[in-house]
Amino acid sequence: MHFVTFATAAILSFALGGVNAQSPAWGQCGGQGWSGPTTCVSGYTCTYNNTYHSQCLPETTSTITTSTPISTVAPTSTSPSSATTTSSGATPTGSQIRAVQDPVFHFYLQNNGGKPQLGPEASSGYFTVSGTISLNQSSGSKLYLNVNTSASTSYKPLTLDATATTTDWGLEGDTIITTAPRQLNFIACATSNPSFYDLYLQTGNDTPSGASCTLQTIHLPCLC
Ligand SMILES: *[C@@H]1O[C@H](CO)[C@@H](O)[C@H](O)[C@H]1NC(C)=O
Ligand SMILES: *[C@@H]1O[C@H](CO)[C@@H](O)[C@H](O)[C@H]1NC(C)=O
Ligand SMILES: *[C@@H]1O[C@H](CO)[C@@H](O)[C@H](O)[C@H]1NC(C)=O
Repeated sequence: MHFVTFATAAILSFALGGVNAQSPAWGQCGGQGWSGPTTCVSGYTCTYNNTYHSQCLPETTSTITTSTPISTVAPTSTSPSSATTTSSGATPTGSQIRAVQDPVFHFYLQNNGGKPQLGPEASSGYFTVSGTISLNQSSGSKLYLNVNTSASTSYKPLTLDATATTTDWGLEGDTIITTAPRQLNFIACATSNPSFYDLYLQTGNDTPSGASCTLQTIHLPCLC
């Protein structure tokens, strides 16, 4: 049955080509090297399968029962012409950043003892996304979210530093990306504390040895 529906989806996706900014039912919506849409048509949710493949599956599983589709984005901001630009509205200020797939569904990016990690909403960070991603500190200074591109592994650690070295952060719809080059895959890796996950930008298929990691994209909760 899946083969039939998948074939239909493939034909649909072929027929609609670049017009469709969202992946069709059963269509691919992520994975290493994937440059197509990362959100799904209404009623379907982008579900991680493996490093190479995420697929739009019906929202019938018990994990997602909210009435609002979590990955719906404004059509204008996912159109190919604006694919690598920051959304045209006001600079998001005071925005939470969260994951939307298990096992970190609605875990929020935050400063946990100097490390950027995904954790509980109660301690969520509120970020300003504008080329840099910054976090206000109570002292009045800022911390900047950087990708450590010196890492020799395909997964690049994220750090919070006093100066910004990663200045190509952007938004594609509600999805946090880097724009040069365009990258939107992250991995979330379990830590000894079940409330917190380490987050890495994933540019290949290495994973930290011994860690349980899942491919993730990270999002603003709303286009605000
Ligand atoms: C997940 O990937 C495996 C290996 O590529 C494949 O056999 C399987 O059909 C995929 N599952 C889904 C739901 O796409
Ligand atoms: C951070 O501080 C700046 C002023 O330095 C302010 O304009 C901005 O709204 C603050 N952002 C957040 C998320 O509180
Ligand atoms: C970045 O990664 C390199 C190589 O692993 C390491 O030596 C360096 O300390 C890291 N820098 C930061 C800021 O974490």
